[in-house]
Amino acid sequence: MIAPSILSADFAHLAAEAQAVEGSDWLHVDVMDNHFVPNLTLGLPVVQSLLRATDIPLDCHLMIDDPGRWAPPYAEAGAYNVTFHAEATDDPVAVARDIRAAGAKAGLSVKPNTPIEPYLEILRHFDTLLVMSVEPGFGGQSFIAHVLDKARTVRRLVDSGELRLIVEIDGGINMDTIEQAAEAGVDCFVAGSAVYGTDDPGATVETLRRKAAEIAAAAR
Ligand code: DX5
Ligand code: ZN
Repeated sequence: MIAPSILSADFAHLAAEAQAVEGSDWLHVDVMDNHFVPNLTLGLPVVQSLLRATDIPLDCHLMIDDPGRWAPPYAEAGAYNVTFHAEATDDPVAVARDIRAAGAKAGLSVKPNTPIEPYLEILRHFDTLLVMSVEPGFGGQSFIAHVLDKARTVRRLVDSGELRLIVEIDGGINMDTIEQAAEAGVDCFVAGSAVYGTDDPGATVETLRRKAAEIAAAAR
């Protein structure tokens, strides 16, 4: 699955930018609060407008403090998947429960230097795991390869049937780095600058998807 990140799109033309990647599996929406990360993007009103503007399922990535308070409204609004950060709450299971009760899939995200082991036990309460392969906050950064160990660990648990979870990766994914990520068993690839930095974002999504599918098929 490919999830273009609108962080790299033109915020004044979000409906058109969503349309440009119509064939995408998910549309990745980066919500930043200037507290959890040193950057500010968009919030619930923009997500509500986007939901009216596109049929692509919205994958909301909340890089915010206090997700217990702020995350469920994104689910209520109609986001398909709502991901928050493990580092931002003491009770991730309760937040996941509230997101699911409000009608969305629940995702847990970990920053590049956050180990996954302490969270393996609670992953059964989640639908997606978002492995950050850059420090959250900005698009256009370089891929951090060591995070792939976390993807491999969780992939093994999914393959052995111990977990049911979509493994998603976010940050620095492009035509080159998608290969290593696909080899590590990632299911869903977020790409911002690699998609919206090209003349034909829709065609780039197709090329990325084809490349990931080839690697995944060869790895089997
Ligand atoms: C970073 C965001 C990413 C960002 C990725 O904090 O979570 O979703 O848009 O951008 P690229 O693909 O350019 O690294
Ligand atoms: Zn993101």
